[in-house]
Amino acid sequence: MDTLEAMKTRRSSRSFEDRPVPKEVIAVIEDAIMHSPSGSNAQESHFVIVQNQEQIRRIKRFAQGVSGKPPVLVVLCSNKNEALVRGGVDTLEVLRFVNLGIVASQILLAAQSQGVGSCPARSFHKKSIKEILGLPEEIEPELLISLGYSNEKPRQKTIKSAKEVISHDKYQG
Ligand SMILES: Cc1cc2nc3c(=O)[nH]c(=O)nc-3n(C[C@H](O)[C@H](O)[C@H](O)COP(=O)(O)O)c2cc1C
Repeated sequence: MDTLEAMKTRRSSRSFEDRPVPKEVIAVIEDAIMHSPSGSNAQESHFVIVQNQEQIRRIKRFAQGVSGKPPVLVVLCSNKNEALVRGGVDTLEVLRFVNLGIVASQILLAAQSQGVGSCPARSFHKKSIKEILGLPEEIEPELLISLGYSNEKPRQKTIKSAKEVISHDKYQG
């Protein structure tokens, strides 16, 4: 599947088959993570790939945004100390979120290219997730991504027209 096809066919999945994601696919996800860009190449992001089902159950108790029973959860985090030291104040305050957004997109598209469904989730209790994962103070979890073989038809979604979203040469409101 080429990248544009992955972009056009990807939809969030909130129900998953009870089958594991093979280690070859996990390796593709790791590749997607490792090749993602970051501002000033600061590389302040950290990722916890959770496949232990008991650990996923624990996380789900404090993550209302995670639906279904995904066999894999990727926890996207920033190391705030590294952000400041390697990138400066702008990286700490803004770019670390931009960097996580870019890598999140890479993870979603890499999963799609392998026929694996995904769903980002921002609704979770940070302090509890930090405790469950044993994250040190400076490592902040910012987004969860569920991965697994989708068990549902994509929901209806409305999308704005291109005219509303994209201007050419000058703002056209
Ligand atoms: C940053 C971000 C946070 C999201 N958080 C949640 C969430 O907590 N729970 C959830 O069910 N979906 C969540 N989503 C999925 C969006 O609801 C979904 O992407 C949107 O409705 C568009 O649908 P699509 O992904 O199928 O194109 C999130 C998506 C993004 C990009």
